[in-house]
Amino acid sequence: MWDPTQYERFKDERAQPFRDLASLIERRPRMRVVDLGCGTGELTRELHDQLAAEETIGIDNSETMLLKSQSFGSEALRFEKGDVEGFVTDRPFDLIFSNAALHWIPDHDHLFAKLVALLSPHGQLAVQMPANHDHPSHRIATEAAVSFGISPRTVNVLPPERYAALLHHLGFARQHIRLQVYGHILPSAADVVEWTKGSTLTPYREALSAERYEEFLAEYSARVVAALGEERPYFYTFKRVLIWGTF
Ligand SMILES: C[S@@+](CC[C@H](N)C(=O)[O-])C[C@H]1O[C@@H](n2cnc3c(N)ncnc32)[C@H](O)[C@@H]1O
Repeated sequence: MWDPTQYERFKDERAQPFRDLASLIERRPRMRVVDLGCGTGELTRELHDQLAAEETIGIDNSETMLLKSQSFGSEALRFEKGDVEGFVTDRPFDLIFSNAALHWIPDHDHLFAKLVALLSPHGQLAVQMPANHDHPSHRIATEAAVSFGISPRTVNVLPPERYAALLHHLGFARQHIRLQVYGHILPSAADVVEWTKGSTLTPYREALSAERYEEFLAEYSARVVAALGEERPYFYTFKRVLIWGTF
């Protein structure tokens, strides 16, 4: 159950990696595009306009996120509720795009092979995913989940060089893969919790009752603040992997 209001508290910071990823795409005429895990659709709209795409489809499995998407749709841009893992198409795409979504899905060797099969012969793949699982903000969330008796999130994101090899073996002739560190200036370490509440902690909120989740948050926040210290403002480093390739 995604909470778009919490997610968008850091809208500008979350939009920058999207724009960095979009800038890697080669603009070609009359592209057919899919945005997997499109969220509210606001950035899908930006992508669609930037590429002057012929057709764009946004796919997401969260009703709460998709609620907002209707205001961004048009004749050439539509949104559908669906799961990335079960996604199929009867016509190939010129671009498969995904910003901050595929890290929720396991087995990337299998997933990427499946996505590549949906691309046209000169198609492009552009994917951005957080890779910050070794930061205390994420590590402590995993530890707190275990101490609350719920399954911790699995780390699905591979090291960048694994994506380079994967794209090579999947037949991409050109590729650009990089790990980028985004630095976010937050008022204090406690604000890191506001950040993770909108994304990383989502499955924990779902797995716990409202009361237990409040207890979880209190314990998690105390441990995060103890680990990150009193520095004000707090400089939150956030690693992301950016992946682009074409045949
Ligand atoms: C962090 S948000 C990113 C949203 C959007 N791409 C953006 O950049 O603003 C991740 C989105 O992925 C969606 N998502 C996660 N797993 C998914 C899956 N298996 N199938 C479809 N959508 C999924 C979530 O519902 C959520 O809207």
